[in-house]
Amino acid sequence: MSKQLQQFQNDGFLIIEGFNSEQECDELMQRSAELTAKFDYTGHPSVFQTSEQERTSDEYFLNSGNNISFFFEKDAFDKNGQLKNKILHSLNKIGHAMHDLDPVFNRFSRSPQMKQLAKELDLSDALVIQSMYIFKHAKIGGVVDVHQDSTFLYTEPESCVGFWFALEDATIENGCMWAKLGGHKTTLRSWFRRKDVGTEFLTYDNSPFDLDGVIPLEVKKGACIVLDGLLPHYSQPNTSGKSRHAYAIHTIDSKANYPKENWLRRDFSELSSI
Ligand code: FE2
Repeated sequence: MSKQLQQFQNDGFLIIEGFNSEQECDELMQRSAELTAKFDYTGHPSVFQTSEQERTSDEYFLNSGNNISFFFEKDAFDKNGQLKNKILHSLNKIGHAMHDLDPVFNRFSRSPQMKQLAKELDLSDALVIQSMYIFKHAKIGGVVDVHQDSTFLYTEPESCVGFWFALEDATIENGCMWAKLGGHKTTLRSWFRRKDVGTEFLTYDNSPFDLDGVIPLEVKKGACIVLDGLLPHYSQPNTSGKSRHAYAIHTIDSKANYPKENWLRRDFSELSSI
């Protein structure tokens, strides 16, 4: 077993500074701006939808597994359906298949250093099931409540692993992630899944996460943070004047069962490894 894998299994996360070059980060930020510029949001289903429930139940969200889809910050639109800021500063994230559909995202997600890391973590056969570009704009980027990624990418047995890439410095001020060493040594609390209409959280265990001893995962631009799917983590709002762009991909074990009730549906014949 590699040293990295041993540490990952002990701690539930792994921080690798200097994983990507500044240029690789800049290219991905540039590409997200290009994709956003081409996106026509006229009639976008997120306009006028106010509650999280509506947002997470709409068809646009549920179909995003096979697409490059754009999601706005909560208060991006005024009451007339007009954006309050420029579109690039109104988005919360882009998801969830850029790593397969866009050449620049594909290259970043399957870089030589990613292939090497996957090898060291015994994840060479794991399938990349989703990707997310997270904007976390200065003064705008909102809170991400404490959660386990396996809640949203549920497999039997549990196998979700996240790779989170800092495209800019992530600090306490601009809303870096928080987690606890060994925090993954717990059970899955809930599963976010489809119902006949919409979605629901199926609760397995109501007990709160033990967040005693959480630490801020402050990292420099270019860092990669690997996250166990069971690790509870969260981030605070960005109250600073600096954005905190990040990109993340998630893998699942190719041999694990991926129930069809998962909110994210992919054409499995199109999935491939890192
Ligand atoms: Fe997460």
